[in-house]
Amino acid sequence: TPPFILSPSLLSADFGRLADEVAALEAAGLQWVHLDVMDGLFVPNITFGPPIIAALRRRSKLYFDTHLMIERPERYVAAFCEAGANLVCVHAEATVHLERTVAEIARLGAAPAVALNPATPLCAVKYLLPQLDMVLVMTVNPGFGGQSFIPFCLDKVRDLAALRRSQGLSFRIQVDGGVTPDNTAALLEAGADVLVSGSAFFGHPPYKDRLDVFHAAANR
Ligand code: DX5
Ligand code: ZN
Repeated sequence: TPPFILSPSLLSADFGRLADEVAALEAAGLQWVHLDVMDGLFVPNITFGPPIIAALRRRSKLYFDTHLMIERPERYVAAFCEAGANLVCVHAEATVHLERTVAEIARLGAAPAVALNPATPLCAVKYLLPQLDMVLVMTVNPGFGGQSFIPFCLDKVRDLAALRRSQGLSFRIQVDGGVTPDNTAALLEAGADVLVSGSAFFGHPPYKDRLDVFHAAANR
């Protein structure tokens, strides 16, 4: 199986000790952290926004993989870039001006990415692929950690990897939701490069050992 990035979702960390959790990820050898921003409108849950991310930025060198589950994200992309997001991922379903929003993220100096809900077809993002650093294939309906992986999403990852090959592109494919050591090998074989894991990662400390478990699962 090809090399991959594990991006632990801070949604499953201890929110009362966020700075310590981020430091623990760094100490365990992680390079990315996945930041789930929820607005209570696009998804039925609320998490955190730019001030929390800015505070973590001052204490961390991790790559901030920022997943915006918010309506009309164009209103806030500048605030998230200013807060220190390295990558900003917006949902195709959340804006009618996806191209403009993606171009704006790139102009602000962050890596642009687009997320697709499980039922959203790949054609929603097809013409934007050359502009993207990453496509996030949601493998649960966004809003909460700890849900079960939706099996048909594996086909979607495969189809997206085929599209990438046929267009000669190199954007990353990220999967998010219900990712565990048990489905890691299948996801990597289908073409995923970045695995987000919340509950299956933070629920099993120490983090260094858990990272090893995912790496071992990849080579199974
Ligand atoms: C879901 C979030 C995910 C979530 C994943 O709305 O986008 O990043 O934290 O959690 P697990 O890995 O527990 O499904
Ligand atoms: Zn996420």
